[in-house]
Amino acid sequence: MRKNIVAGNWKMNNDLAATKTLISELENQVKTSEAEVMIAPTFTNLLEASKLLKDCNIEVIAQNMHFAENGAYTGEISASMLKSVGVTTVILGHSERREYFNETDEILKQKVEAALENNMRVVFCFGEQLEDRKSENHFNIVEGQIKNVLFHLETEAWKNIVLAYEPVWAIGTGETASPEQAQEMHKFIRGLVNSNYNDIVSENVSILYGGSVKPANAKEIFSNPDVDGGLIGGAALNAESFMAIVNAF
Ligand code: PGA
Repeated sequence: MRKNIVAGNWKMNNDLAATKTLISELENQVKTSEAEVMIAPTFTNLLEASKLLKDCNIEVIAQNMHFAENGAYTGEISASMLKSVGVTTVILGHSERREYFNETDEILKQKVEAALENNMRVVFCFGEQLEDRKSENHFNIVEGQIKNVLFHLETEAWKNIVLAYEPVWAIGTGETASPEQAQEMHKFIRGLVNSNYNDIVSENVSILYGGSVKPANAKEIFSNPDVDGGLIGGAALNAESFMAIVNAF
């Protein structure tokens, strides 16, 4: 059976001191949760976060990585570097990476391959822009983003793939896809995976929703049959609101 996951994407927020504070607040509040819980601090705080959460059931994950193993890529971080600080899951394809850092499907394909070769788990993000939805092109856009990056993978590789549907118009805007819009898209995505692979893969892949998930709307969004959790930005920066979302399952 697929897992429910709630992942906090801290983006470029929280220096070392703030990271320690937020982690200690989370540790105090996390008990047994129905969902797997992940947090993605910035690169410079991954080591400290991994150490602090060593005995806690919150997984520390990365927000990005480079596809090369090492070499002349100034400013970049590789899979093995992440693993050396205890990180074995990475978010790839976030819309901010696509928009501000020109990450294309071709680059993301290489990144996904590099992560999987390193036995890492990937939280792969995708989602349409507002104009795509207005022109009713959202299903095509999402299909292309998934197909171009993931559909060449072997069936076996899907054990390490988590999907995250994040409509760009809902990220950080306070606007959320309605529970119906989320379910409709998630069902479509599961159907795509099913027709390219099989029932086992499509029933076992977790599909998260991201985009202005808050304590007030989490329960309704997560109660959809094809929504298996959330990727949380703004609301993950506060322990109380993040834990309220985790406990919405
Ligand atoms: P948000 O961000 O919850 O602040 O909308 C979600 C994300 O970018 O993953």
